[in-house]
Amino acid sequence: MVKPVRIAPSILSSDFARLGEEVRAIDAAGADWIHVDVMDGHFVPNLTIGPAVVKALRPHTQKPFDVHLMISPIDSYLEAFAEAGADCLTVHPEAGPHIHRTVQTIKHLGKRAGVVLCPATNEDALDYLLDTIDLVLVMTVNPGFGGQSFLDSQLKKIERIRAMIDSTGRDIDLEVDGGVDHATAPLCLAAGADALVAGTATFKGGAGAYAANIAALRGA
Ligand code: DX5
Ligand code: ZN
Repeated sequence: MVKPVRIAPSILSSDFARLGEEVRAIDAAGADWIHVDVMDGHFVPNLTIGPAVVKALRPHTQKPFDVHLMISPIDSYLEAFAEAGADCLTVHPEAGPHIHRTVQTIKHLGKRAGVVLCPATNEDALDYLLDTIDLVLVMTVNPGFGGQSFLDSQLKKIERIRAMIDSTGRDIDLEVDGGVDHATAPLCLAAGADALVAGTATFKGGAGAYAANIAALRGA
């Protein structure tokens, strides 16, 4: 199933003092999804955004909120992010005791469910989840910070997951996160990704550059 590439700017690299304006700017510049990195200072060594901020941003765009939850334990926060206006909730298998139950909870909340794999997490973790989930996110850096270098070792994993997804016949998005720029985006797409997160590569150069930055990632 070949889908047009979706670009999901990560607002982690935006100006946090002007978040609403930044979200409107990337919407106007052609973003498909708004990627929101939620970090708890425990599962990852950084602290960012909570549900109150997601709720405050919700009126600023109609584009889907692609919410990447780096929180442990995860389950008690799912409802708050769903109510705040998330469209897709993406969770790490390491972030709670029962990933299948976590995915079930997200689906019961009426949201798209994503599972995200860290660089050292094997794609086998998806084996009994692909019949339910809507998105797989492959981390091409260790989670926690923007601006890190792309890990080429993950390209093989993207290829393997592409084959796994295709064998299900289900419509599951395959997204890549970390170090995605004009040089690494084509590698991800060639390996079978159909959605790209980009923080640094979207927000570099200021608002006047966002449209060109997004177009460059898309390969336009
Ligand atoms: C890292 C986050 C990423 C990050 C990507 O933990 O999940 O979404 O913002 O930033 P860049 O695109 O700068 O690598
Ligand atoms: Zn992310």
